[in-house]
Amino acid sequence: MLTQPRTILLTGGTSGIGLAMVEQLLEQGHQLIVVSRSSDTLSRLKENSEQVATYACDLSSRQQTESLIETIKKSHPELSVVINNAGVQYTPMLLDQDFDLDSVEFEIKVNFVAPVWISYLLLPTLIKQTAPAAIVNISSGLAFAPKTGSAVYCATKAAIHSISQSLRYQLAGTNVQICEAILPLVDTPMTAGRGGDKLSAHEAARQIIRGVKHGKPEIYVGKARLLKPLMRLSPTLVKRIMRRY
Ligand SMILES: NC(=O)c1ccc[n+]([C@@H]2O[C@H](COP(=O)([O-])OP(=O)(O)OC[C@H]3O[C@@H](n4cnc5c(N)ncnc54)[C@H](OP(=O)(O)O)[C@@H]3O)[C@@H](O)[C@H]2O)c1
Repeated sequence: MLTQPRTILLTGGTSGIGLAMVEQLLEQGHQLIVVSRSSDTLSRLKENSEQVATYACDLSSRQQTESLIETIKKSHPELSVVINNAGVQYTPMLLDQDFDLDSVEFEIKVNFVAPVWISYLLLPTLIKQTAPAAIVNISSGLAFAPKTGSAVYCATKAAIHSISQSLRYQLAGTNVQICEAILPLVDTPMTAGRGGDKLSAHEAARQIIRGVKHGKPEIYVGKARLLKPLMRLSPTLVKRIMRRY
């Protein structure tokens, strides 16, 4: 996978880890289809490279997402890799006075529902490719042990982890592989203002791409690699550490 030039759909490719993946995948000779809401940033990306096609879309909208995928299927029938990277993270506590019910729905739609819509709508395109194809879901260590704040975010990543496994079972025996990239804290606009030892977006992107190239179903990035052995050793300790993350 990714050893030959491919056409890759990457959501949320205008910032943070997504932008770092776009830059590295372009250098490696791939064609990129980049999606986000900010048309200005998308235009700048397109101006700088002929290998990029861009589409503005709010992935929380089913109507916009369905229409986007219809266009992509017509314009890029050779598409063989989908990276579900777009995401938002809010930090409400349910006891907060200003807890916003709309933000719950938006966060769930962008982080979980949209990747499911996109996977369903693009599977016919991926399956008909003669080369191996892949859906890469960008997940988090918080999928395994949630923190106190960002409760909805953690739940969406747990849901991404779960559906990645189910889809892997459903697609066994086809040319479509499901990869889940499990990330630690990464230095991006999403985590701006938060302290801690953050991995650079460049390094996170590098490790994700390397994992996809090697055909790994689960790609543990940076310190997230410690999660599995630590969970075996002491799930209680992991939960105590992640709770404050
Ligand atoms: N940073 C971390 O520590 C960390 C750790 C674990 C996992 N992750 C995951 O890594 C992925 C990338 O995160 P990041 O840290 O790179 O975040 P980021 O810098 O905030 O970038 C998020 C990207 O998603 C796009 N996006 C957000 N809402 C969207 C919507 N409704 N429709 C379409 N695009 C939308 C944004 O573009 P627009 O705003 O222009 O739409 C942007 O391009 C996310 O799935 C995140 O959950 C991050």
